[in-house]
Amino acid sequence: MQFRKISLLVTCFLYCLCNSLHAQPARVREDFDKNWTFHLGDLPQAKSTGFDDASWRKLNLPHDWSIELPFDSTSATGTGGGALRGGLGWYRKTFTLPASDKGKNIFIDFDGVYCNSEVFINGHSFGVRPNGYISFRYDLTPYLKYGNEKNVIAVKVDNSKQPNSRWYSGSGIYRHVWLVKTGSTFVDNWGTYVNTPVVSAASAKVNITTTVCGTGDLCDVTTTILNAAGTPVATQTQKNLHVGALQTTMQTFTIRSPALWSIENPYLYKAVTKIICKGKTTDEYTTVFGIRNYQFDVDKGFFLNGKRVKIVGVCNHHDLGCLGTAINTRALERQLQIMKGMGVNGIRTSHNPPAPELLDLCDKMGFIVMDEVFDMWKRSKTQYDYSNDFDEWYQKDLKDQLLRDRNHPSVFIWSVGNEILEQWPKEGDTSGRAYLRTMQAIVRSLDDRPTVTANNEVSASNQLLQTGINELVGYNYHHEHWPPDSVQKKWGRKPFIVTESVSALQTRGHYDMPSDSARIWPQRWDLPVANANPDLTCSAYENCFTPWGSSHLATLKTFLKHESISGMFVWTGFDYIGEPTPYPWPARSSYFGIVDLAGFPKDVYYLYQSLFTTKNVLHLFPHWNWQPGQTIDMWAYYNNADEVELFINGRSQGVKRKTGDELHVMWRVQYEAGRVEAVSRKAGKVVATRVIKTAGAPARIVLEADRPVIQANGRDLSFITVKVVDKDGNLVPAAANKIQFTLNGAGFIAGVDNGDQTSLESFKASERKAFNGLCLAVIQSNGKPGNIKLQARSAGLSVASIDILGK
Ligand code: GAL
Repeated sequence: MQFRKISLLVTCFLYCLCNSLHAQPARVREDFDKNWTFHLGDLPQAKSTGFDDASWRKLNLPHDWSIELPFDSTSATGTGGGALRGGLGWYRKTFTLPASDKGKNIFIDFDGVYCNSEVFINGHSFGVRPNGYISFRYDLTPYLKYGNEKNVIAVKVDNSKQPNSRWYSGSGIYRHVWLVKTGSTFVDNWGTYVNTPVVSAASAKVNITTTVCGTGDLCDVTTTILNAAGTPVATQTQKNLHVGALQTTMQTFTIRSPALWSIENPYLYKAVTKIICKGKTTDEYTTVFGIRNYQFDVDKGFFLNGKRVKIVGVCNHHDLGCLGTAINTRALERQLQIMKGMGVNGIRTSHNPPAPELLDLCDKMGFIVMDEVFDMWKRSKTQYDYSNDFDEWYQKDLKDQLLRDRNHPSVFIWSVGNEILEQWPKEGDTSGRAYLRTMQAIVRSLDDRPTVTANNEVSASNQLLQTGINELVGYNYHHEHWPPDSVQKKWGRKPFIVTESVSALQTRGHYDMPSDSARIWPQRWDLPVANANPDLTCSAYENCFTPWGSSHLATLKTFLKHESISGMFVWTGFDYIGEPTPYPWPARSSYFGIVDLAGFPKDVYYLYQSLFTTKNVLHLFPHWNWQPGQTIDMWAYYNNADEVELFINGRSQGVKRKTGDELHVMWRVQYEAGRVEAVSRKAGKVVATRVIKTAGAPARIVLEADRPVIQANGRDLSFITVKVVDKDGNLVPAAANKIQFTLNGAGFIAGVDNGDQTSLESFKASERKAFNGLCLAVIQSNGKPGNIKLQARSAGLSVASIDILGK
């Protein structure tokens, strides 16, 4: 024991000493996002070094050009693609490299380019990478110039063939770009693999496999594991490794009393790998990882570190509302915080490789991720989708996703396909089976986490499930088939997960009564909706959903009933651009979210909160502005209480209790202006009270910032909620006032929204109409420290203003 302590102290000392001696890091990973030029349209000459791009627009990445375009009913992307056009665009960047970089390996890493990108360095092409979501690297070294000579990177991005997606894809270099410089012998791209085969509270075995590239030197590979405080806890050196083109080495560590990664305490370790050749550190590479064990049990569901956890997950697409698909870490973090706030602990990256930042955040915040790769295989869903490139690219894309993502402790499941059409044999074609076998073999060669396919065919004829290859059985929808006897009768004793569920349709703040009569829209998935609301709204009670889906309430009841269900991923956490089922143009974004596109929760958010958090929840809805005498259904979601009593203008409307498997309570009442109040009680003691008053005419604007202080780094955001209220401060539920914004100081307006699925106003503007009382302005730092003042004006309302500090 004493010896262990001493050896750790020595390790710690040596580690710190080495760090201080190396002023020049062996590996540099530079943010390569700044100072690009952009042109929308094809100019094939732009690939040449000598091309003059002086007249092009100057911008910083990440960039999504489609979000900047007007909504267009004739766009070939269709409303499914958000009615925003694709097209073909070129990006260029001219840069120099110091002479001291000569001899280094220099790579460019693209986190994601939508789509069909072709990258040229000084006129040399690396070929086309079709997949718009995959991360990729090119080795620039042989083509580079140093000193005063200029280098030119040109990137052609071709999203012109449409439709190629069932949702809004965005267009352009919409994720980050990095320039990576290493010494002559270095850790390969995504070249480490951390695996923790044995984990207990007492100790964990950690295997770290490192793939090193070099030119034949004898090198030492030292890996040091640091705890979250940055203190080394273990180290290993592999001496004299002969590093030819590619060499792999595995080091095994034992960590005593490991801090386990969990949803509540997502503890992260780091492995720092140093390559030392001829006494010189040629590379230093950091891998973040977590130590946890888990199990999918056929009868009892999912266990994390020995504790049963029901995965309450959501599916999300990758757009960030009014910011489009241009990745912004804070916008993503806000989405995840909103999800956490309602008790969500799982994220499905529907239906494609996510931005790396999403997984970093899930690691840090404690989410269980189902990392998905494809929405289609060889059989297409839209004319120009990835099916056209599938045979040539799927193995490489899947492998690259696994290599990139497999060290993330938040990833627990690999989904190799969503609603793959090869589930159904077509004219005797059973190729889906062979594709699945190949993909499973790829996953197994790289990692031991279970695979799944998200199946919407639950009958015994499902070709993919028939193979029995995936470790998990996954169903989309069909909650009547979730009971264990039904699943196991068809597929044997395999753990089961609901890969997708619900698909309810809701417009925030809109209510169709009676609340207990269902609108199942569209009548069939391939038919337009008939007899729906002419204003293209869907009711935010639990009474509007698709025929393949169900209400949240119905799904949750089944979900909660069966222990054997490991978890589920609700379609969707957030509304997203595109797929405005059940409506045609001008509807252009989805109705599926628990939260609207602007990030404002719909009522059902609080149902989840009441079930899956410990907060005291009492959510009363709808608003209290109706016609005198109108019959109104008042609903409440609540927890931590035995009963709820409703009062209208002080008169009790009765006490209600959830009985049996009920998850809400309701009163059918006659409207009269004034005040409606709900009081929840436990053992006679008041737990929570909610009051809603009839609002008068719009009088004022209220601005509320999610964060009053942001980093002055050019990227950080403050989300400003704009409320239209009456003279007493009550939200005016139908307010649609147009709000005009003026911004002064160290920021700019990055986007505006109001959550209305049919609004054709631009997301990139300095004005927005309120929708059901609310709208949103997203303020971004311009990189300089200082105050940012946002003012909001609207005819007939008093001016409001808010100050944000960029620091
Ligand atoms: C599912 C599909 C999703 C989305 C959803 C809408 O079948 O997997 O991508 O289209 O339906 O309800």
